[in-house]
Amino acid sequence: MTESDTDDAEALCFDMYGTLCDTSSVSVALGEHLEVSAGFVADVDVLWRRTQLRYAQQVALMDGYIPFSAVTERALDYALDFYDLDPLEETRQAIILAYDDLDPFPDAADALAELGETRPVVVLSNGNPEMLETLAENAGLAPHLDDVISAHEVRTFKPDPAVYENAAERLGRRIGDCRLVSSNAWDVAGAAQAGMATAWVNRSREPPEQVGGAADLTVESLAALADSL
Ligand code: LAC
Repeated sequence: MTESDTDDAEALCFDMYGTLCDTSSVSVALGEHLEVSAGFVADVDVLWRRTQLRYAQQVALMDGYIPFSAVTERALDYALDFYDLDPLEETRQAIILAYDDLDPFPDAADALAELGETRPVVVLSNGNPEMLETLAENAGLAPHLDDVISAHEVRTFKPDPAVYENAAERLGRRIGDCRLVSSNAWDVAGAAQAGMATAWVNRSREPPEQVGGAADLTVESLAALADSL
């Protein structure tokens, strides 16, 4: 691929958490470190992720930005507190560290490599640069990425349009010439609302959001996306 070949091509902006990497892989660390049943681990895991997303949206609305690593830690503390769990600080730190080591979805690296042959492929995530770069490296995705664009650059979180607009600016493209690829329905709705093209990787066949924009393309996996584009 020469630079001029990709100059005009649509740029693909991949969400990281839940799209390229599986956030539920932290349940292994939760299971190892909390002495509770598997069902209980699953509850903590789900509440942790839900609270992380809720807190990101709340701090963006409140104009009280803190980096996504801090959002993630505070969301864990909320989930532990909700379930009356009070692990030692070293246990809590070990659980947090699992976020740097999430499993990539099995088709992620191949899809990035294939799609990256003909267009720029970047990460566009709420994660702060340090956590994204560590995870991309640990998950073996870094060699397939042209760049990592973080919401931290504009001190707010998706689905604030400022995050999608900043990505288009960084990529030197009109926003409609960038496509968000995400498994998070709210992220797709936000990007579409901001004028970005979208692809929804709807692995679990969820219904679409009823607010924001609609997905331009819906697929069931990253491998299917590589076949469709
Ligand atoms: C991301 C999370 C929020 O932006 O899915 O990667």
